[in-house]
Amino acid sequence: MPESQTNLSWDVLLDLSGPAGARHERLAGALRSAVRDGVLPVGTALPPSRKLATDLGCSRWLVTQAYGQLVAEGYLEARTGAATRVSWSPGRDERRPPAARVAAPVPRYDLAPGVPDLRAFPRRRWADALRDVLTTMPHTEFGVPPLGGHPRLRAVVAEYLRRCRGASAAPRDVTICAGVTEGVTRVCRALAARGVTAVAVEDPSWGRTRQAVAAAGLTVVPVPVDEDGVRVDLLGGTRAVVVTPAHQFPTGTVLAPARRAALVAWARDVDGLVLEDDYDAEFRYDRRPVGTVQGMAPAHVALFGSVSKTLSPALGIGWHVLPPAWTESYQAANPAAATPSVVDQLALAAFIDQGGYDRHLRAVRLRYRSRRDALVAALATHLPDSRTTGVAAGLHLLLHLGGAVDTGALVRRAAAEGLRLVDLAAYRSTPPEEPALVLGYGNLADNAVLPAVALLASLL
Ligand SMILES: Cc1ncc(COP(=O)(O)O)c(C=O)c1O
Repeated sequence: MPESQTNLSWDVLLDLSGPAGARHERLAGALRSAVRDGVLPVGTALPPSRKLATDLGCSRWLVTQAYGQLVAEGYLEARTGAATRVSWSPGRDERRPPAARVAAPVPRYDLAPGVPDLRAFPRRRWADALRDVLTTMPHTEFGVPPLGGHPRLRAVVAEYLRRCRGASAAPRDVTICAGVTEGVTRVCRALAARGVTAVAVEDPSWGRTRQAVAAAGLTVVPVPVDEDGVRVDLLGGTRAVVVTPAHQFPTGTVLAPARRAALVAWARDVDGLVLEDDYDAEFRYDRRPVGTVQGMAPAHVALFGSVSKTLSPALGIGWHVLPPAWTESYQAANPAAATPSVVDQLALAAFIDQGGYDRHLRAVRLRYRSRRDALVAALATHLPDSRTTGVAAGLHLLLHLGGAVDTGALVRRAAAEGLRLVDLAAYRSTPPEEPALVLGYGNLADNAVLPAVALLASLL
């Protein structure tokens, strides 16, 4: 008889997200499917109701209701003083292959950087915006989507970037696309059309930024980063550079004022282009966010942003603001550029325009700040020999482990224990001088902070 499947990630197997309603019915449905699909074979011990309730972030009552229902249906068997077990197995013909995501190894604790708090997506307000748009938009809007994005969203994004990011943006300079990554590839195509063959990219940097440059057929030239941000003095013979000035990814530094000035002077000198990735600038906890470099030199900076960190990468909506002198080569290099769904574009425009976006950002900023504080405190307690940097902003921080930790082996050991970690080395062209991890906390449940750090400490 199989033992309790302690290596199963119950919160993933039994996903309770979704529309509000009878959650115990959804839990019962998820359990029933797992039994029917053979994911939970006969004899499997289910976790005690209190434990499952903690894992799923729901009440114990809800779990006992769901267990009770499945006992009544004959899928589970409950005995006093013993675990509730699966008591039914599908016949060979009834068994469906388990869903792919069930088969994938899902970490118990995911400390990889990348996604925002997916539980915090403002479902109700987004649904309101979508409903309003669908009921009020003229039928003509259901035609072919306007090139470069819907004028309404372009205007709203331009206003938002001027107001919140200190950008210099007129609606005609804003292009709506699927996100930062896609935008970088498109602008790199325009660079290639103008004869540029190589683009400097911060080292370390996000792998997808490098891929976005390479996707346009350009060579990526790594340029080092120090505690003041990108080393502008090492930009050498290049004429274009991709940077993350508000919050360097992944070191978390903010581009120092003197470096900002030097970057602008460099771009003017070489008549080049700075590609400014403003991916998570909204999240600055201890001071006001720094404005964009684009606002200082709009003729030499292309600014990129998206809702991937503020709302969700699943929406696939982003934007870029181009210097007017680049519009023609951009359009020639990207003649058939697609746009996100017009309905979604108009919903985002309404969401921003009616204050929903600002409200959402204020709420999640508080949530991220307290989670960051909890993570930093837990690291200080459990890993007193380590050091954190890059904590002032964003959704990730850098944990310097000191000593001679083999981070590659640590990441593998952690994965085997259900803890997902990312080695700083994964973002660099050369190994870092000191072993370090990039810890993302955006999508880490608050109650997972302590156990995740305790597990990390035990592995070290
Ligand atoms: C450095 C960096 N830039 C940009 C993005 C967002 O990219 P996109 O808008 O293509 O989802 C991310 C998301 O993780 C990121 O880490």
